[in-house]
Amino acid sequence: MIGIVDSGLGGLAVAHWIRRILPHADLLYIADQAHAPYGDRDPEEVAALTRSLVDELLTNGASTIVLASNTISAAALHHLRQDLPHLPFVGMEPAVKPAVAQSRAGTVAVLGTTATIEGPLLADMISRHGAGAHIVPIALPGLVDLVEAGQGDSPEAEEFLTARLGVGVEAGADTWVLACTHYTFARRALERVLPDDASIIDPAEAVATQVGRVDPGTGSAHAVARTTGPIEAFRRRVAELDVMAFDRIEGLG
Ligand code: DGL
Repeated sequence: MIGIVDSGLGGLAVAHWIRRILPHADLLYIADQAHAPYGDRDPEEVAALTRSLVDELLTNGASTIVLASNTISAAALHHLRQDLPHLPFVGMEPAVKPAVAQSRAGTVAVLGTTATIEGPLLADMISRHGAGAHIVPIALPGLVDLVEAGQGDSPEAEEFLTARLGVGVEAGADTWVLACTHYTFARRALERVLPDDASIIDPAEAVATQVGRVDPGTGSAHAVARTTGPIEAFRRRVAELDVMAFDRIEGLG
């Protein structure tokens, strides 16, 4: 069984592709909505919260763990691989390398939570893959909350983005990296705000492809989603986003 974690709804963007790539895999998705957003918390706290989600997945029989969150991956992946060396983990990192390769202007904007934008993983990606390019990191605290409230594709999201993306537009960025899984669900609002020729890089599918490399995806196509937050709102949002079918959507104590 493949276990997938995020602070909330964002990881569903990755789960969608995992289901497409591994149609028979059994999936357990855990959303820690009681503690979302993670992006405003410090890395030690995110690592501790993630460890208890991973323990829950292991108790339920997960044999591969997907950290479907940039914030979680930056804070916890390294510790988890050290503590559980035999367990396959797939995490996320800001897609700076493909963005730099693709940008005609040589200017790339990276959008993420405060933790991701200010953290060492992005700095490392930029120093390894950003040579010769101009990288504009932009933290978007508040956008995760809009997505969680079902407003990722709304006039409010558009207004929010218009007020914050100017720095990237003015710098001439033609390639925009989604370095937070929640932002997939604000993509339409983003497209309305960005210049017509801007391209957006969303690594969700590539990460799911990587999951397919480490896990054979055998199972009976069973899928369960659990949240630590209010269950009815979670059910509603999962239905609205309509990214994949779950056999059960339930609360996690
Ligand atoms: N979706 C996650 C990410 O990719 C976490 C967002 C949050 O909880 O702040 O960063």
